[in-house]
Amino acid sequence: MPVCSGTQANKHNMSAPAPDHESAAPAPRNVPVPVTELQIRYTKIFINNEWHNSSSGKKFATCNPATGEKICDVEEGDKVDVDKAVKAAREAFQIGSTWRRMDASGRGRLLHNLADLMERDRVILSTIESIDSGKLFLHAYFVDLDGSIKTLRYYAGWADKIQGRTIPVDGDYLTFTRHEPIGVCGQIIPWNFPLLMFTWKLAPALCCGNTVVIKPAEQTPLTALYMGALIKEAGFPPGVVNIVPGYGCTAGATITSHMDIDKVAFTGSTEVGKLIQEAAGKSNLKRVTLELGGKNPNIIFADADLDFAVEQAHNGLFFHQGQCCLAGSRIFVEEPVYKEFVCKSISLAQKRVIGNPLHAAVTHGPQIDKEQHDKILSLIESGKKEGAKLECGGLPWGDKGFFIQPTVFSEVTDDMRIAKEEIFGPVQQIIKFQTVDEVIKRANNTHYGLVAAVFTKDINKAFTVASALQAGTVWVNCYNAMHVQSPFGGFKMSGNGREMGEYGLQEYTEIKTITIKIPQKNC
Ligand code: NAI
Ligand code: MG
Repeated sequence: MPVCSGTQANKHNMSAPAPDHESAAPAPRNVPVPVTELQIRYTKIFINNEWHNSSSGKKFATCNPATGEKICDVEEGDKVDVDKAVKAAREAFQIGSTWRRMDASGRGRLLHNLADLMERDRVILSTIESIDSGKLFLHAYFVDLDGSIKTLRYYAGWADKIQGRTIPVDGDYLTFTRHEPIGVCGQIIPWNFPLLMFTWKLAPALCCGNTVVIKPAEQTPLTALYMGALIKEAGFPPGVVNIVPGYGCTAGATITSHMDIDKVAFTGSTEVGKLIQEAAGKSNLKRVTLELGGKNPNIIFADADLDFAVEQAHNGLFFHQGQCCLAGSRIFVEEPVYKEFVCKSISLAQKRVIGNPLHAAVTHGPQIDKEQHDKILSLIESGKKEGAKLECGGLPWGDKGFFIQPTVFSEVTDDMRIAKEEIFGPVQQIIKFQTVDEVIKRANNTHYGLVAAVFTKDINKAFTVASALQAGTVWVNCYNAMHVQSPFGGFKMSGNGREMGEYGLQEYTEIKTITIKIPQKNC
């Protein structure tokens, strides 16, 4: 496996805490292993297929959440750099440019090329993702890389299948619609799934023929920058994709208020989502799609397969240390099985192996940074103060990095902060309910509406509840069942618009109506 090297090289030695349990089994055979001595090659701003220093001369550090140590410095883009990137993207979008003249099938081929290169460099990308974000290496490899590659291939297939309609209008006219690219798309992504969110944003935009200025999160810029090198190697023309690492209040805010950006797509906090919608309204009314947070209800009826429901609820919350917009963080359990459910959930939480996310036996890594770490701990404190029963965990772990013990609360009531606020951490809230009507009402009693789940063997109950829940996705007898082919997005304050699947294309095209007068002959 080749390792990166070059002028921007920065060696990173992967020291991190050992797994919590010394008894942790060794990695099974044929499991991919991280690159052992990685060199970080790409740390600059990517504009017009070239690497640039920041205009201000500033850089910022990106850290390894497992150790708290700096990995390397990255060029810090701000307004001037975003302006340059937008200019490049605008030029690449001009009528007559290589990109605009390219066949739709050619755009599909480039997306496939990019997917091929990600497959080639899958171990390197997974290693960088793990070090920069604290994600388990094996999750990066099997979940994030798999999902990213599938996303590119899925939208590669759509590129030459985006069709308008012929419409039988009144009178002597031929009317048809064309689905045209919107233009320059600004895309702002978070730190919890850096590579996956990069491809979720990029693939549909490029498939439809747009150009892009994308800003990775300041905590996790490294895989996005590596993708810049792959985008160039894949053969995308200069200016089609521009990547500007930097902070939200500078580079991010410039994107959202830019007069020459036609659309902005964002994943992150509801708070920043509101700022983005406002900035779009105050500037050029650019199109806005938002994927924001969730406080997602997971409803377990007494007739469900209990062991399976416990396991799904556990994974639905603790996956990636709870740092998921779709984490099932309000678990409503029907009274007759409540105690048993809590007992089994504690046992699973206590089995998690905390430690170095690069180690195959570890199942629980660090939180992204000190800010998130401290926010989660303060929410745990509020849960204790407000009377929830702390069943296990609740404390920081280790002497370096940003680890928190897997935490389970029972006896949680709807008015507590831990039942209302998005914790974005490894903290499970288990809540009791008695009737179907009651649980529907309580599950919907939130400003959020991203996902929900219901576990029952009764098909009628499953459908009644699934129909009544206000959420963009409802899972029945499963959790985290995400597919590139199906749309994802939120009701209420969980966002606007949908990503993924065919629906995702609607967010990246303008519909143009063309009407042609048909001359009539006198017969
Ligand atoms: P954030 O919303 O501040 O960051 C997400 C992205 O937005 C980053 O790229 C950031 O640089 C950018 N950003 C920040 N301020 C901006 C602004 N004024 N204009 C334009 N872009 C801006 O989220 P943060 O602070 O990292 O996490 C806070 C909370 O947000 C978390 O605790 C969690 O509850 C939620 N969150 C939700 C995510 C999701 O998947 N829906 C992902 C990350 C965070
Ligand atoms: Mg980092």
